[in-house]
Amino acid sequence: MTAVGIDAIEIRTGKLKLDLAETFAPAQGDDPGKYTKGLGLHASSFPDVYEDIVTMGANAAHRLMERKGLSPQDIGRIDVATESAFDNSKPVSTYIAGCLEQVYDGDFHHANKGERKFACISGTQSLDDAYNWIRAGRNRGRSAIVIATDTALYARDDPGEATQGAGAVAMLVSEEPSLVELSAEQGFGSADETDFLKPNQQFPSVDGKRSVNVYLARMREALDDYASVAGDIHPEDYPLVPFHTPFPGMVRKAAALGYRHIVRGTDVEDLLAEEIGHQPMPEDFETDDEWHAAIKEYTDALTETERYQDWYADTIEPTLDIARHVGNWYTGSVHLARASGLKHAREHGRELAGQQLLVASYGSGAQAEVHAERVVPGWEAEIAQLNIDEQIRNRHELTFAEYEQVHDVHNHDQESDAEEFTAPEQEFVFDGWGRMGERKYRYVE
Ligand code: CAA
Repeated sequence: MTAVGIDAIEIRTGKLKLDLAETFAPAQGDDPGKYTKGLGLHASSFPDVYEDIVTMGANAAHRLMERKGLSPQDIGRIDVATESAFDNSKPVSTYIAGCLEQVYDGDFHHANKGERKFACISGTQSLDDAYNWIRAGRNRGRSAIVIATDTALYARDDPGEATQGAGAVAMLVSEEPSLVELSAEQGFGSADETDFLKPNQQFPSVDGKRSVNVYLARMREALDDYASVAGDIHPEDYPLVPFHTPFPGMVRKAAALGYRHIVRGTDVEDLLAEEIGHQPMPEDFETDDEWHAAIKEYTDALTETERYQDWYADTIEPTLDIARHVGNWYTGSVHLARASGLKHAREHGRELAGQQLLVASYGSGAQAEVHAERVVPGWEAEIAQLNIDEQIRNRHELTFAEYEQVHDVHNHDQESDAEEFTAPEQEFVFDGWGRMGERKYRYVE
């Protein structure tokens, strides 16, 4: 079977930065440790006044196409995943194609375009769509561009405010990919939940604490489902496990649950038992409360063991490097985690070719998905092309008053203007409104 997977990745961050410890925490009257240690976040990215989900997505896709030497006729699909769309009919992918057509000869008239919605998991679902399209032999030798783009804003003073972020990840999905080959096996954990939703409103209604528990419950189901088709999962089989990362503290909880779950009944649990005993089993307890207390105690002890901490440091921590400095990118978040882990591995000389990543996506509402990806020989050359460190370094750092202004500018319910904080250069920018209420864009040389 021909390999199908991700051939190239590009990341585009919003060009503004809010430092959580230095700027946000004092203004909120909070201890900075709540953000840096508790949530695991140092800063959030925000879009400048001329940036939005279209410009970030188009700028990421443009660099991707330039780098891979592609022209519009090489692309048979443009799929956009977002939960920040501003139009209930016209998809963001048409805007992005329109932007790209400003700078390329030729057009995307024969490319299928769409927009996927299922909270943060729709980026992974768009990858599935591209994968299935190629597998079905409908691609005529062409590749797909999948773009996950979001401006993840919360209402001011919502507990989610500290986890905000903005950016886009563009991925080229092709036959014989240069980065990772996607597995045919997938596991799902999906249920009708009301943990985080936007019923025709820009900012989410969130039951924050419940959303954390729903994430964990659906992820456990997806792991079970994946194991039922792919066979038992052993933690040492996967050098990196990128999770959907609304904030690194969420992944700290998910990784502990996942590890505990997959080592149950294995040699690893036996080795751990010498230190912390075997995992408590529900049948040994009379009430749910007693069982939950015992499992919490076991998990706390597990995360203190050297074996777990070594696994976490090698397998999870590298996937969080970028998220710590940019916040939640919703649909792009798990794809940022994959890129972050691979980037860290390249910088530390880890040899991953032929090894598998276990990728764990999640979307509120709610659904988790788990699949594996085989790293392709030569992956380092592709990952070396990322310029995200430079983008992160070059962001304009906002004062708190500027942050308030920027939040208002991007609030659809406010009429608010602000001067741009950075000067656009060789990029697509928002250029005002058209006669039918459409957004307009232009390329700045
Ligand atoms: N030093 C160190 N740690 C501190 C601290 C300090 N001074 N102060 C607090 N902390 C710790 C807390 O103990 C807590 O850690 P634990 O959860 O491990 O106990 C952590 O910092 C956060 O503190 P709080 O729980 O008090 O924070 P909060 O209630 O204000 O907000 C939240 C947390 C509810 C998750 C909020 O950020 C939120 O609503 N976020 C949006 C929803 C979200 O991201 N949910 C995640 C799952 S849903 C999903 O993944 C989809 C998605 O992308 C949105």
